[in-house]
Amino acid sequence: MRFSQCLFLPAVWALSVFLSPVQALTLTIRTDSPGKPISPMLFGIFFEDLNYAADGGLYAELVQNRSFEYSALDRPDWNALTGWQLLKRGSGDGTAYIGDARPLGPNNSRYLELHCRAGREGSAVGLSNSGFDGIVLKAGESYTFSVFARQQPGRHFSWQVCLESRDGIILDSRDLPPLSPDWKQYSAVLHPKETTDSGRIVLWIHGDGVIYLDMVSLFPQNTFKNRKNGLRRDLAEVIADLKPRFVRFPGGCLVHGDGLSNLYRWKDTIGPVELRKAQKNIWRYHQTVGLGYFEYFQFCEDIGAEPVPVVAAGVSCQNTDRYWGVGQQAIPLEKMPEYIQEVLDLIEWANGAPDSTWGRLRAQAGHPEPFHLKYLGIGNEDAMTPAFRERFEMLYRAVKAKYPDITVIGTVGPNPEGFDYEEGWKFADALNLEMVDEHSYKSPQWFWSNLKRFDRYDRAKSKVYLGEYAAHEPDRRNTLRSALAEAAYMTALERNGDLVRMASYAPLLGKQGNTQWNPNLIYFTNTEILRTANYYVQMLFSTHAGDRYLLADFDQPLPDEKRFAFSAVRDSRTGDIIVKMVNGEAQALTLTLNLQGLPQTETAVIQTLLTAETPDACNTFRSPNDVTPETAPITLRDKQPFTAAPYSLTILRIPGKN
Ligand code: AHR
Repeated sequence: MRFSQCLFLPAVWALSVFLSPVQALTLTIRTDSPGKPISPMLFGIFFEDLNYAADGGLYAELVQNRSFEYSALDRPDWNALTGWQLLKRGSGDGTAYIGDARPLGPNNSRYLELHCRAGREGSAVGLSNSGFDGIVLKAGESYTFSVFARQQPGRHFSWQVCLESRDGIILDSRDLPPLSPDWKQYSAVLHPKETTDSGRIVLWIHGDGVIYLDMVSLFPQNTFKNRKNGLRRDLAEVIADLKPRFVRFPGGCLVHGDGLSNLYRWKDTIGPVELRKAQKNIWRYHQTVGLGYFEYFQFCEDIGAEPVPVVAAGVSCQNTDRYWGVGQQAIPLEKMPEYIQEVLDLIEWANGAPDSTWGRLRAQAGHPEPFHLKYLGIGNEDAMTPAFRERFEMLYRAVKAKYPDITVIGTVGPNPEGFDYEEGWKFADALNLEMVDEHSYKSPQWFWSNLKRFDRYDRAKSKVYLGEYAAHEPDRRNTLRSALAEAAYMTALERNGDLVRMASYAPLLGKQGNTQWNPNLIYFTNTEILRTANYYVQMLFSTHAGDRYLLADFDQPLPDEKRFAFSAVRDSRTGDIIVKMVNGEAQALTLTLNLQGLPQTETAVIQTLLTAETPDACNTFRSPNDVTPETAPITLRDKQPFTAAPYSLTILRIPGKN
């Protein structure tokens, strides 16, 4: 159902509304009431390198396995040469080995050793990489190639970097300077003459002897905000359009990892990329950590969002033993002081003066100003074991002792009920935590049935960060039905915006064909981006947020089972009043809107409508616009009935005088 149809009230709706027992409903909105406060941080995002969200996704690096660090630990069928292909031209020949005797640094232990035989004039050995299922190259754009290399002393090589199409057509090439026997970085800027989505990068080498290569990189210069080592522009822009008030990172399960050796250690993710410590991704691939803490904080700043980093609570993910790993392991108590210091150092790195030990590293990375970190998550969905409690408490007390202004967010397990939830809340009460992180992956009906959940929470206890939630259909599709269930729940979050301080749908990104988890908010390929119905709901709530929740109610109670939810908020900055109505029913709902406190008998309103013919509607790459919002000005007249379309989210924005 489209906006224009809705405006003119099709006959079938009129009939169903006419016959409806609730046709005489009046929704009174007290636009003159002071209202309750709503957290200014309410709607944000949750980012985790899951589903190729970072490597192969948001992180704009185009070369896969650039540092030859892939291994069977990442995935049983992977090794250090995964993603690379040896090519031969003419009578040139070569053999590739993996070396580790003279690495670039202790964290980057492996490199490629290419033993080359020159062959006749014009012959060469080639090393090619097709990125993550083909490199996207755009004519007219610039790409920075870089590599660390050295050569066997006393030999002579000539070498060249080429961008090629899948069938070997050269799109651009550059001769590279003579090699030295010591590690040195070489770089060149290339300009492909044609556009392709299945390109490859090839290093052609001519000479006899051994050449050593590491960190073979190709980066578009056209990244988000033109950052070096930056983010894929189109994807970052779609995320920025959500206008998130905060970004939680780097996960999720990725934070506490598969065993202690797989915890996400922020210090391994900063500094020169070639010296960072790549590691296995708990989601069964590889994390280069090229998108590391500096890049996360910078992205937050670039999109005006508060950074909300999450660190492991001294224990690893308990869920891994169920599927593939070792289950919850705890950092030995004698090593906890070191780990606690690591967490304290993060705060100094983010906020410390440029001459402080850790603030200096931030300044050296190009950010002398502090990042103004205010929130820190400790733990993610951890099982409430004695080992967890002991370590969490040590971390919590140490952070609050040194940085009392940092809001620490605790965790109350993976579900909105059950043992870890109950025990997590008791633990939070005992420690008097400021905020806890709740998660709800549930059916659409669960969200509709739980609209009053937070109304019942004790305001004297911890505030809530609903850090992960999504309405899951049995087939895990991003249907309009699921999006409307989330929208209804979000009206309840607004109503409880004094208690629920932050909320983020999860997960954010899924690369088509590489997902370990569905549904996600945004799907993407190397060239396309799909905004789901759920994405539009998040975007609409975020861009139509308010800071005061206004008194509003029907003149007669709606039956509990009726899937209809609403909220009315004021944006004090603009004075705008925003009314949201979610109709999850197959029938339209007609009501009279009584905007109490507005003098006009005719009110100019901007209406946004998100709906479709059926609740099963779902945007796909083939049909990306089945559920998209439409916006148009309308006039609300006093006492004139207003119709909320079947299966719809309607937002009425009444401009204020500010
Ligand atoms: O969002 C996907 C996963 O769901 C997160 O990594 C984890 O915290 C939760 O179980």
